[in-house]
Amino acid sequence: MIWIKIFPAEVLDGEDFIKKINVSGKKLCAVKTGDRLFVVQNKCPHAGAELSQGWCSNGNIICPYHRHEFNLETGRGKAGQGNYLNHYPVEARGDGIYVGLKKSWWQFWG
Ligand code: FES
Repeated sequence: MIWIKIFPAEVLDGEDFIKKINVSGKKLCAVKTGDRLFVVQNKCPHAGAELSQGWCSNGNIICPYHRHEFNLETGRGKAGQGNYLNHYPVEARGDGIYVGLKKSWWQFWG
């Protein structure tokens, strides 16, 4: 696992947001809601919409296209959807907020 800083630590004290972030060439979706920050894949598994254009309700992110809902904590789609999101571990450290990505083989050997 490699940890990459994505935001300054103060972001947790600011406004809620949903935004697309680019981390090591991966397009991900960061969701700040209350004092929590989640990172999930940005592309909706249903038909490819950008989840960063969606919104958040009751701990779920909702896709703007066909309203599929995914739990931000587990990535699970709502019952009956049969899909899920990749979700990534987030760590708040003294100097910022980090997301954990699995090392790909080329990073491992490089
Ligand atoms: S593209 Fe997201 S619900 Fe259809």
